[in-house]
Amino acid sequence: MAVLVAGGAGYIGSHMVDRLVNEGYDVVVADNLSTGHKKAINPKAKFYEGDTRDGEFLDNLFANEDIDTVIHMDAFSLVSESMKNPLKYFDNNVVGMIVLLEAMKKAGVKNIVFSSTAATYGNPERIPIHEKDHKEPINPYGESKLIMEHIMKWVDKADGIHSVALRYFNAAGAKQDGSIGEDHHPETHLIPIVLKVAAGQQDKLKIFGDDYDTPDGTNVRDYVHILDLADAHILAMEYLKKGNPSNVFNLGSSTGFSNKEIVEAARKVTGKKIPAEVATRRGGDPDTLVADSTKAREVLGWKPKFDNIEDIISTAWTWKQKHPNGYEDQQG
Ligand code: UFG
Repeated sequence: MAVLVAGGAGYIGSHMVDRLVNEGYDVVVADNLSTGHKKAINPKAKFYEGDTRDGEFLDNLFANEDIDTVIHMDAFSLVSESMKNPLKYFDNNVVGMIVLLEAMKKAGVKNIVFSSTAATYGNPERIPIHEKDHKEPINPYGESKLIMEHIMKWVDKADGIHSVALRYFNAAGAKQDGSIGEDHHPETHLIPIVLKVAAGQQDKLKIFGDDYDTPDGTNVRDYVHILDLADAHILAMEYLKKGNPSNVFNLGSSTGFSNKEIVEAARKVTGKKIPAEVATRRGGDPDTLVADSTKAREVLGWKPKFDNIEDIISTAWTWKQKHPNGYEDQQG
């Protein structure tokens, strides 16, 4: 039996695929390469280029491969872009989920592990955030993922497709050897932009707003290493394969860092000055997002290995130094 990673050429997907391959799983990747990189996919995985909104593409894939679990990582995920173009997000994310579940139903595939997000909570009612806390997304990206979770819940009741939704907080870092990492075009995420400045590829960082309701006025986020996220998916997949019921888990480190603190940590890791200035707010940013991940630790047995922000940034810096221009620098 094989696991299908939908979106396996993306930042999180490529680390997921690599981890699965190294753990001995048979891995199939589906990706339309709209934002992902073919070079990021571990060559031991079987790659199908196509879109998960394309039912025929999925039907063929499921007919050719013996898939028992789908790991869904192929949603669009940029908060700011979703504020400007909500329909793009509802189309790709929500329609993609419907078509995928339809194809899984036809093929008799019963397990799905879904990359959900802290953005489902909106401005949280308390910190740290628990899974059952109030959810009122403040951007279309978070809204689309909450809708996808709801769709999975009803499809479980009707068709017995069990799901685990993993609500990530801020995914960061790279494989330690720097062979795969984060490469978005355009790049909008804080840590890779900070490292671009450190590498001299950008003059300075703009910190989007310092008038939030946080200790230093800049947004506070909970950074979790990409390999710890990958491990959580493997645990979630095994949890479902044992016949456990559908569930939802937060994945975070339970420690928050402000944007200013991230810049400071990156200065320490890189030894570079990293000029930064405060700019106006970006739309759709909640003040603070910090997870309570007790449930994932207790139920799944998840034990994140990276609990230090400098270690996380350091893996991203290794990738950046080895691949200053991302996958463009890589042969093959
Ligand atoms: N930021 C800056 N300057 C930049 C880029 C980002 O100040 O040049 C700030 C943002 O305004 C925000 C923080 O850095 O306050 C983190 O921003 P990111 O874009 O790195 O990440 P987000 O918190 O917006 O979103 C990420 C993922 C989402 C996920 C969310 C959950 O992209 O998919 O984490 O916490 F939902």
